[in-house]
Amino acid sequence: MTWQQIFRFLVDASEPVSGELIAQHTHLTRAAIWKQINFLNKQGFEIERFRKSGYKLKFPVDTPVAINHKTLKTKHLATEVITKITTDSTNNDAISIAESAIEGTLIIAENQTNGRGRRGRNWISPFGKGLYFSLILKPSISVVKLPKLTILAGVCVAKSLRRLGIDVLLKWPNDIMLNNKKIGGILSELFVEGEEARYVILGIGLNVHTENADFPPELSDIAGSIYSETGKSCSRIDLLKSIIEELDAAYNSFLKNDGALGVIADEWNEMAWQIGEYVWITTGKGKEHCKIIKLREDGVLLVSKGRELKEVFVGEILL
Ligand code: BTN
Repeated sequence: MTWQQIFRFLVDASEPVSGELIAQHTHLTRAAIWKQINFLNKQGFEIERFRKSGYKLKFPVDTPVAINHKTLKTKHLATEVITKITTDSTNNDAISIAESAIEGTLIIAENQTNGRGRRGRNWISPFGKGLYFSLILKPSISVVKLPKLTILAGVCVAKSLRRLGIDVLLKWPNDIMLNNKKIGGILSELFVEGEEARYVILGIGLNVHTENADFPPELSDIAGSIYSETGKSCSRIDLLKSIIEELDAAYNSFLKNDGALGVIADEWNEMAWQIGEYVWITTGKGKEHCKIIKLREDGVLLVSKGRELKEVFVGEILL
């Protein structure tokens, strides 16, 4: 935990802090502090060293890994927080500790080297530019209702963004869209034993300051970020807190209502991308051209083809 202690200290300080003060608070030797500062520098955090006054963190001061769970107003979520500067995938980290972890454990990283998306795709996760986090959930709800958690998560992310004036839409089942570009996604992984869910890993990725050059050429037309689409830079840590609090409230009602989405389904429909329009949808049976009608309360997408109303349980809407 040593780098986290020093890091927290530097994040909270508005002025440079002396090695002596850090040593007093962390009970580390000056040599150990120096080692950790070097580690943080190597990870991409610029820490300036002033001969007289000490250390100061330059960029990115607005870092989600500085989240302090004590400042969050939550009941279930983020009661335990694990922060990483770099990791392969926060979903992988969550899976590896899920059995013994407490409900709501949050794992957040500044960078993922192997961020995972839906359908075996990669999630581009450059350092300092996005939100990459996973939550370990252990709901006592029938397994069949649990896929709805991704719908719930999408609505919570979208509401948090809309509060900041970022007019995102939701593309079924859980893509966060801005100007027809995907800026966020949710990878939920359900682990079941018999009829019981052991845990659900809810992984959320949001491109905040990601630039076009960060995406490989094949994604340049379909992927974007808040910054690339609006020119706005927003505080990643404030956004993270807002999403976690929104999710906590929605998750509490989901548990209380035995896995019913309730108003969340209506909210999803109000923010739906291309509702009432014809789109291409891939399902297990191939590609079909259908009109999006609405999301049903059970998370199923209703579409129409001619006069026929169809239910889509799994699949993807193509861009
Ligand atoms: C999608 O393809 O739409 C889902 C993307 C999910 C990405 C997030 S980033 C944090 C978490 N860790 C991962 O490896 N994936 C999810």
